[in-house]
Amino acid sequence: MFGKSAIAATVLGVGLSLAAGVVLAASHGGGPFDAAIKARQAHMQLYAYNLGILGGMAKGAREYDAGLATAAAANLAALSGLNQAGYWPPGSDSFDNDNTAALPALWDNLEDAGRKGAALAEAVSALQEAAGNGLQALQGAIGPVGQACAACHKAYRKPQQ
Ligand code: HEC
Repeated sequence: MFGKSAIAATVLGVGLSLAAGVVLAASHGGGPFDAAIKARQAHMQLYAYNLGILGGMAKGAREYDAGLATAAAANLAALSGLNQAGYWPPGSDSFDNDNTAALPALWDNLEDAGRKGAALAEAVSALQEAAGNGLQALQGAIGPVGQACAACHKAYRKPQQ
C-alpha cells in the first residue's frame, strides 16, 4: 500500500502534488478563522501540558515536586482566567471548517459553555491551593479539574476518532 502510493507519487509527479495542494487548501489553508482556531487550540494545548505534569505526579508516573506542581497549577489558573472571547468567533465551528473540532452546539449554548469555563476556573483555583501541599492534597484536587475539561469536551468538542 505504502509502496504503491510512493510509486504513484513518482509516476504522477507534478499532477499528484497539485492535487495534494488542493486537499490541503480545503482542510487547512487560508480560511478566515484559521488564526482564531489555532489560537484556541494552542490555549487547549497549554491546558493539557500543565495538567499533564500534575496528572503524572498524581498517578506516580513522575516524582512529586511541590515547586513544579505549584507552577503548573498557577499556569492553569492564569490560562483559565484569560478572556477567550476573541478566538471563538461565530462561524468558526466544525460544520463550516475542517480544521476545528468545535461543534456548532457551542455557539447555540454560549451561556452554558461560559458556565463550563467558569466551573473549570473554580476547580483550578482549588487545585492551585492544594498543589504545593503534598502529593495527597494534589491527588484530592485534580479530579474535578479533569472532569471540568471533560464536561465541556463531551458537550462541545467533536468526538476524537
Ligand atoms: C468551555 C469548554 C472547554 C473547556 C473547559 C476545556 N476545553 Fe479543551 N476543547 C474545547 C473545544 C471546543 C475544543 C476544540 C477546539 C478546536 O478544535 O477549535 C477543545 C480542544 C482541546 C484539545 C485539542 C487541541 C488541539 O490542538 O486541537 C485539547 C488537548 C484540550 N481541549 C484540552 C483541554 C484540557 C486539558 C482542559 C482542562 C484543563 C480543557 N481542554 C478544557 C472546549 C473546552
